[in-house]
Amino acid sequence: MEDRAAQVSFHAPAGPVWLRVQTRADRAVWPRREVEHPGGPGLLDVTDLPPATEVVIELGQGATVQRCTTRTLPSPPGPELARVATISDLHIGSVTHGLASTMFDRAPYRDPAPVRCARGAISEARAWGAGVLVGKGDLTQHGWAEEWRTLGDLLERHAAGAVLLGVPGNHDKPQVRDIAPHLGLRHAGFSPEPLEWVDLPALRVIAADSACDSRGPGSLHAHGDAVVDLAADARRAGRAVLLCLHHPLERAPLPLQYPKGVSWAEGRRFARRLAAANPDVLITAGHTPRNRRRRVAGLIHTEVGSTKDWPGVWGGYAVHEGGIRQVVRRIAAPDAIGWIEYTRWAAGGLWWPYSPGRAQDRCFTHSWSATRPG
Ligand SMILES: [Fe+2]
Repeated sequence: MEDRAAQVSFHAPAGPVWLRVQTRADRAVWPRREVEHPGGPGLLDVTDLPPATEVVIELGQGATVQRCTTRTLPSPPGPELARVATISDLHIGSVTHGLASTMFDRAPYRDPAPVRCARGAISEARAWGAGVLVGKGDLTQHGWAEEWRTLGDLLERHAAGAVLLGVPGNHDKPQVRDIAPHLGLRHAGFSPEPLEWVDLPALRVIAADSACDSRGPGSLHAHGDAVVDLAADARRAGRAVLLCLHHPLERAPLPLQYPKGVSWAEGRRFARRLAAANPDVLITAGHTPRNRRRRVAGLIHTEVGSTKDWPGVWGGYAVHEGGIRQVVRRIAAPDAIGWIEYTRWAAGGLWWPYSPGRAQDRCFTHSWSATRPG
């Protein structure tokens, strides 16, 4: 759900499917539209919705009609100035899925599932309007040169013209590898630097390497001070900050989820210093890979799920003069959606309710504490 758009996810047999959208007050937004559905899972985009409005979405096939009521997000204050997208946990090169690695891609496509999912995410993020694309780690499964090259081919074909920021994750830093992670990033078209940033109107986007090695836990010991300095510098220039990490900050002294992120004590210290440097920071991470939102030292902290497994998403950030809107969109590519739906059955089916999080974890509008210059 966005301020002016929504994604409708459904399962239906092959055949025509119709969609109708109206406001709660019965004002037609979308007259009935019909599309031919190939059967199975599907995603439809609804656009041109009014912001902050309750809408009724009806989806029908034959005599069957499903109806849901939802509310579009309010737009952040001021005009929209730019769009940024994030992709993470692509795991290019992985061939199995699930806790016991018992799930295989058996679909008759030339490219393996992680490549098809990444291609869908990158091309759909660009079509959404993202001018900056951030890779938030675990871009490859084993950190091998061939995997980086595959990602580079995807970015060259589907992200041409976008500003690319990328950081490695733990999977990109294995002990046994045929290329160093920073050179792998360069192979893929990213800068090899562990700390990068780009300044947009009203927003500084920072990508920082939080991966120590191939094990799960992350740390900001290496780059945390520089991130705080960059955030303070952004504040002096009137900019808010979108900080992109691979590892989330742990929520409690004892890790509550697997894999582990940045330890609670270190994360709390870092977030306090960051908030003092610039109170208008949104931290977004991957790694877990699930969708969650909470506050850390007053800053917004989100985890956005993987491109390659249920619910198969990428993150979008609409940058406004006075705020930001996060949207987590599902990958709609027809050659990816079947695999993504299959992976909901990971962990004995527990992944299905666990990974997506709540709607407000994924999609929300946030106003900065001060109006930013456009
Ligand atoms: Fe990871």
